[in-house]
Amino acid sequence: MPVKSAPFRTIRDLELSNKRVLIRVDFNVPLKGGNVADDTRIQASLPTLRYALERQAKVILMSHLGRPDGKVVEELRMRPVGAALSRIIGRPVSAAADCVGPEAQGQAARLKPGEILLLENLRFHPEEEKNDPAFAKALARSGDLYVNDAFGTAHRAHASTAGIAHLLPAAAGFLLQREIEALNQVMENPKRPYWLILGGAKVSDKIKLIDHLIDKVDGILIGGGMQYTFFLAQGIGVGNSPVEKDRLQLALAILKKAKERGVDLKLPLDHLIAQKVEAASPPRATERPGVPEGWEGVDIGPKTIRAYREAIRGAKTILWNGPLGVFEIDPFSGGTRAIAEAIADSGAVSVVGGGDSAAAVVKFGLSGRMTHVSTGGGASLEYLEGATLPGIAALTEGAK
Ligand code: 3PG
Repeated sequence: MPVKSAPFRTIRDLELSNKRVLIRVDFNVPLKGGNVADDTRIQASLPTLRYALERQAKVILMSHLGRPDGKVVEELRMRPVGAALSRIIGRPVSAAADCVGPEAQGQAARLKPGEILLLENLRFHPEEEKNDPAFAKALARSGDLYVNDAFGTAHRAHASTAGIAHLLPAAAGFLLQREIEALNQVMENPKRPYWLILGGAKVSDKIKLIDHLIDKVDGILIGGGMQYTFFLAQGIGVGNSPVEKDRLQLALAILKKAKERGVDLKLPLDHLIAQKVEAASPPRATERPGVPEGWEGVDIGPKTIRAYREAIRGAKTILWNGPLGVFEIDPFSGGTRAIAEAIADSGAVSVVGGGDSAAAVVKFGLSGRMTHVSTGGGASLEYLEGATLPGIAALTEGAK
């Protein structure tokens, strides 16, 4: 059965020529030393931007950057993002000193077809996160049409993602469409065997995802910090590894549920452990599950890698959310890298949730070998949990 297509109008349905097209992008990118450290999200917006520019739209981009909490924070100005975009797209990108007000509006009005204006950080105004109607109106004054391509922010009901969609003719950009279609692919009629690979720090962060997918998947591979809560719940020592002591019953309930549903939930067979979570602290592998006192689990061990690879080799669909170890520190990154490589080699439909797992795939240079790497951490997680994302709802319900 084909996957359900996205339930909204897309940019293809709009007549863009000579129009001021306000595009909400998610350019909330990491900065280092005042420069963009990872331009994945900027690259991901290019299909929409190029499409609009080729059709002679006047492109006005708006995004948030970081969490300035409704105040101007100099280090969170959009300037480095504009410079990176200009370099990548090979055109000038002019900057506005604010995202609303007569000056920004005037700059938008003076744009010529095929030109780009980047508005200043939306979150310098507290009204953005409050989805304030007057602020949404002020934003809308700079555009004739609205396109939402900010999948990474679609789980936020903000003025630029929700309110504004009711004020201008609205549609989704290609990135938003691609994200929804890719995530639908692993939620509706996935090819089997279907494996869910879960890592990251906390069981509590993944419980809704497990609940929503447990009837759909054939197996679950667990790694990352969350594994230790499962071990401690079963009376297995975890040393200094991170645990959620208040979630031990929850971990046991997940194990029970998986067993009852015939889901093959696998926990690590061994660990890589270190005395400190620092590159200088030499790691060693354990013989079996469990971490001795004075040590901390930092990655999955070699036996686990072999077992997990075997499962992945037979998979037809894989959804991966959360790193298997402390992949940011090279000596502890082997498990996450091995699993990423196994996914890439598997030939399965592979969808990688945003956030840390996406960062890991980028770090290992494997993004191009996955079916889809989401640009949204919180957004992809909430969508896969079955939640309605306000940014999507605004494009489907009562959009202008
Ligand atoms: C993200 O990076 O997940 C999005 O840009 C949303 O940012 P936020 O969590 O600050 O709302």
